[in-house]
Parts: sequence; C-alpha cells; structure tokens
Amino acid sequence: MPRKPTSKPRKQGSHVRTNRRFWEAGSDEYDQRHRKSIGGDRAAAWGLWRIPESSLRLLGPIRGKSILELGCGAARWSIWLARSGARSVGFDATRSQLDKARRLVSTEHVRLPLLQGNAERLPLQDATFDTVFCDWGAMTFCDPTKTVPECARVLRPDGRLVFSTASPIRYVAFDQRRDGQTRRLERSYFDLHQVQLGETVEFQLPYGAWIELFSRSGLAVERLLETRPDPAWRSTYVDRRDRRWARDWPMEAIWSVRKTTRSIGARVGRSTTR
Ligand SMILES: C[S@@+](CC[C@H](N)C(=O)[O-])C[C@H]1O[C@@H](n2cnc3c(N)ncnc32)[C@H](O)[C@@H]1O
Repeated sequence: MPRKPTSKPRKQGSHVRTNRRFWEAGSDEYDQRHRKSIGGDRAAAWGLWRIPESSLRLLGPIRGKSILELGCGAARWSIWLARSGARSVGFDATRSQLDKARRLVSTEHVRLPLLQGNAERLPLQDATFDTVFCDWGAMTFCDPTKTVPECARVLRPDGRLVFSTASPIRYVAFDQRRDGQTRRLERSYFDLHQVQLGETVEFQLPYGAWIELFSRSGLAVERLLETRPDPAWRSTYVDRRDRRWARDWPMEAIWSVRKTTRSIGARVGRSTTR
C-alpha cells in the first residue's frame, strides 16, 4: 500500500511492466509482513485500517452475485466472498501473487477462477459482473482513465465499482526527504496523475477529475469514504507519525460508484479553471 513518491517522467505504458516487476520480486515480503492484517477474520476488511466490510457494507448483497476483484494478490478477499456464496473471480498481473492465491484456494477448497492480466485491458465480456472491487489493488497501480471505463464495461447495469486507494491529499502532502507525510503542500494538486513511488508507479486524480471520469464512463458516485483512524488503531502499512497525520487529513479514499446509462463528455485529469 503506501510507498514513497518521486516524480521522474516515465515512458507511457511502462508502468505496467515496472509494477509487475516490483510485485514479482516483493510478493513474499509483502505477504509475510501483512498476512496477519489481511488474512483470517480480517480478509473481508478495507484498506490501511482494515475496517470490516460488516460495518461499512460497501459491497451489498453477496450470495449469488458475480464479483470481480482487480489486483487480488493472494485472493483472500475473493476466497472469503466465494465462501459467502458469491461467484467471485480473482484477477492480478503478477504470477507470484497468483501462485499464493492458488495455494490458498486449494487449502480452502473453494471454486474461484484466477486470471492473470493487466486491469487496463480486461479479457472479459461486457456486462458480466454485479460488482467489481479492489482493496488497494489494480486501481492504485493502473491508469484510471483506462481502468474506470473497463470496469464500467464489464459491469451489468446497476452494478457497482468499489475500491480503496490513496487520497489525492496523500500525494500532495508527501515529503520525499522524510519519506512520509508532511503538513506542507509539496506538489501540484491539479497535475496529479502518474506518481512514481520508488520502484512502483501509482496513479491518482484530483477529486473533480475522478467524478468527471466516473460520469463520462456512465458511473454515478454513491459514496466516498475518507477513512480517519481512531488514535488506538494500528496498521501494518502506516507508521505512528503518519497515523497522526491521517487523523488530520485523509490518507485513503474508498469510492463506491454505480453503473448508470447517463454519461457526460467531460475532460479528465485537467483543472477546470481557466
Ligand atoms: C497492494 S497489492 C494488494 C493485493 C490485495 N488487495 C492484498 O491486500 O493482498 C496490489 C496488487 O495489485 C496488482 N497489480 C498491480 N498492477 C496491476 C495491473 N496492471 N493489473 C492487475 N493487477 C495489478 C499487484 O500484482 C498486487 O498483487
């Protein structure tokens, strides 16, 4: 989840290769470090603070629903969904992440298709899923101007896209020298799009650009949760100092949007001011 922003320009499209390389190499370390906070009874929980789905109720009814997880990693969420009666599908770009998912699927004895690919070009038919979701998965590492229309395409009418990722405020207020959040504004809000974080590349948009992108893709915003940690909460993703920062500013956003037939021709990723 959160890593360190730097801002070297990269060749268009190379972010997919760069991120896949990172996750192939870092899969074991990620799993060892976080498995307690994303496994067991915390599998169905959201984001940096592992807030249970049972309290947020973002996914709606699960039993009998077709649910696609983008950037499923070891597929702990999707396994939980399959056990809860969903027809879930795990999708990820990284072989070593999917190897872990396959092992867990076999231990848990669930039926769960696992697909490898790039979430910016889903090898899936139109109008197939009731819900597409991800928990700091592919939506963090892919260009939203590609993934959001793809998610809209594979959703059935009235279907939901739900995803947790960083907030734009996190990137604007990140101090590279200190390698953590700062109370100063460090980068342009309106120019947010692709952000290089050490060995990975993440994507983020200003809030207005997200909303225009959703609208243009035929998705209406239902909820935007800006998580605020209780002082007693702990996270395997956030240190104590950044946890204090996250009490004052949103570090994380969880979007829930629903497929409609309405769309507007809005420009994405640019300031609307003149
Ligand atoms: C932070 S992990 C989150 C996985 C899972 N939610 C978890 O907590 O274990 C991000 C995942 O996104 C996947 N990912 C990155 N870029 C992707 C892309 N272009 N398409 C599909 N998945 C991608 C990575 O392989 C990795 O498994």
